[in-house]
Amino acid sequence: MKDTIEKIRNSLQAHHDMFRNSIPLIASENITSPAVKEACCSDFSHRYAEGWPGSRVYAGCEYIDEIEILCQDLTKKYFNCCFADVRPVSGVMANLVLYNAFTSRNNGKMCCMSIPKGGHISHGPYQATSGRLIYGTAGTVRGLEVKYLDFDEENMNIDPDGSAKTIRECKPEMVLFGGSVFLFPHPIKELKDAAKEVGASIGYDGAHVAGLIGSGYFQDPLREGADAMSFSTHKTLPGPQHGAVISDREDLIEDLKNAAFPALFSNHHLHNVAGFAVSLAEMIEFGKEYHKKIIENAKLFGQALYERGFKVLCEHLGFTESHQVVVDIANFEKSVGLGGDIERLLEEANIIINRNLLPWDIRDGRHYMNPGGLRLGTSEVTRLGMGKSEMVEIAEFFKKLIIDKQDPKKVKEEVKAFSNDFQECKYCFQTPNNTYEFHKFY
Ligand SMILES: Cc1ncc(COP(=O)(O)O)c(C=O)c1O
Repeated sequence: MKDTIEKIRNSLQAHHDMFRNSIPLIASENITSPAVKEACCSDFSHRYAEGWPGSRVYAGCEYIDEIEILCQDLTKKYFNCCFADVRPVSGVMANLVLYNAFTSRNNGKMCCMSIPKGGHISHGPYQATSGRLIYGTAGTVRGLEVKYLDFDEENMNIDPDGSAKTIRECKPEMVLFGGSVFLFPHPIKELKDAAKEVGASIGYDGAHVAGLIGSGYFQDPLREGADAMSFSTHKTLPGPQHGAVISDREDLIEDLKNAAFPALFSNHHLHNVAGFAVSLAEMIEFGKEYHKKIIENAKLFGQALYERGFKVLCEHLGFTESHQVVVDIANFEKSVGLGGDIERLLEEANIIINRNLLPWDIRDGRHYMNPGGLRLGTSEVTRLGMGKSEMVEIAEFFKKLIIDKQDPKKVKEEVKAFSNDFQECKYCFQTPNNTYEFHKFY
């Protein structure tokens, strides 16, 4: 078994080396600072602390409580709100907290975006579609009936007029904004009246855009009408993999707490709570600068791809107001292939991206394994210190591979040389550092 452990270690080392030599453009990922990594490797990862700080079911929680209370306070400060529960262990679990708090079990109804329009699988129903069962979390776990909000494909956003009508007709218990393909702020203000008229609570899944929101650059869901926001802590907010729920409604605090524990978790990954607290302190210090740059880079990247002949969505709106850029690559079907093929081609050259369904893909007979879109994110490359000239260089790599059809092995060597200059996690207190280094303990 000692050999097995070595094998695991070698694979981890190889993974670190791969990322050291790559351009990371997955919109849902990011890297963490040395201080976050240290917290995540602490003894907290061995402990339990069920319940709320101060009223635990376990002994030995003095310092765990200290840090969890600090984490709650930093979350409240960053998002300017009166309540933060930092126990959900992921974004999906945070969404489940909202479902538990705001909907009835087994016969509740929710309105949100469908997956091809940008919704997440955790918003989805449990239903058979074209002979296949879809195990969406909302339907499978909470038994919710899911109705979709209307979508404006040209502007890649929820259509407020159509959706107001849908909400009034469906009378859901909850309207959920937010999603995984998320270019522009959602129309919460425009739909708030319709939701309130039918007695629906308003949730906001800020998994992708939480960092942009906390730093004040996207939209402010809690001020615009959302009763609570759920989010992951590791996308634009560059913490460890975890989740959280916030609200600015004093009257909802007890319901939200009860919706979380004991229903959804026993231990809540205390090491990640500590790491999350560190990342919040970093973002309170550096977030204004970092998140401004993420959005600037996304716009520049969209423009650079567009100028090289790519069909980047929403050129008429400046491509994006978030960390994401979405490209329609269906025109390359005959020459190179669709999303899955292009994802693999780019990976051969050490460029790591996501294929993604576009709103019209299913209608046009495409499938999520090989869809018509690419979703590209600038959170990690920005944290590595990249700016305008690098966005142009990366777009040039895309052109070389997809349009000029250059040999991916040759481009890979260029990508490795390019990545070599970007090995440090910026916007944190511990610089210099070597962010993709694999730390050995023995
Ligand atoms: C909108 C949205 N919500 C929830 C999640 C799930 O988050 P987690 O992976 O933290 O459970 C994601 C994941 O990317 C997401 O895009």
